[in-house]
Amino acid sequence: MQTRSALTISRFLLATLVLLGGGLLKADDSGSQKMQIDDSTFSCIRSMTPVRGFYVDNLLGDLEATLKVANSPTGGDYPPGSVVQLVPAEVMVKLEKGSFPATKDWEFFELGVNAKGSTIKKRGFVDVVNQFGGNCFACHVQARPEWDLVCEKDHGCDPIPLTEEMILAIQKTDPRCENNPELSDSEKKSMHDLMKALSGASESGS
Ligand code: HEC
Repeated sequence: MQTRSALTISRFLLATLVLLGGGLLKADDSGSQKMQIDDSTFSCIRSMTPVRGFYVDNLLGDLEATLKVANSPTGGDYPPGSVVQLVPAEVMVKLEKGSFPATKDWEFFELGVNAKGSTIKKRGFVDVVNQFGGNCFACHVQARPEWDLVCEKDHGCDPIPLTEEMILAIQKTDPRCENNPELSDSEKKSMHDLMKALSGASESGS
């Protein structure tokens, strides 16, 4: 009798373990599934969460973990799913751990944006180049290790040719956003200066 119930119990335990194990494996499987990133992943920059001058989101739903690192005075590694943007056309997305160790699992994107939405023009790890001819990774990798390739103003990267006011004006005129706010006169002027600088750059480059 005793052996029999012991046997029943151990069978029950075994079944439970198999079920649990299966459940855990499944969770593990879905956790390691590749993030689907396409044109529809990206939208109005201002629908993301502002942090100082840039915006963040998390494609896996863990915005809190992303914000924790973004707001940490000592830095840290951004969690998988993190999306970071300063201007509408340039994005960094943190992929699953181990996806591409050389870039600390960051993938770089250059987007085309208009009122209809976003189009991924370029994506990749070490070879994406921005409209000023700069390689995203080569510049962002200069950030000191604790900042996880995020440059901000003082993390050690070469500067970009945009003033703070230009950045604000670019964010306010993201063509994917509804209800873009009116630009102040001085923001209008900085946009004008930017356009002039850009057309000058392409003229001298041709
Ligand atoms: C010459 C260096 C340089 C290049 C090239 C460059 N960036 Fe940056 N990037 C910066 C700097 C500096 C900032 C911070 C500017 C600020 O906050 O005023 C920045 C900001 C960003 C941010 C906001 C988070 C952060 O790091 O502060 C993202 C996202 C970003 N860049 C993506 C890209 C992508 C994508 C490319 C390529 C298509 C690229 N960058 C090319 C220097 C560069």
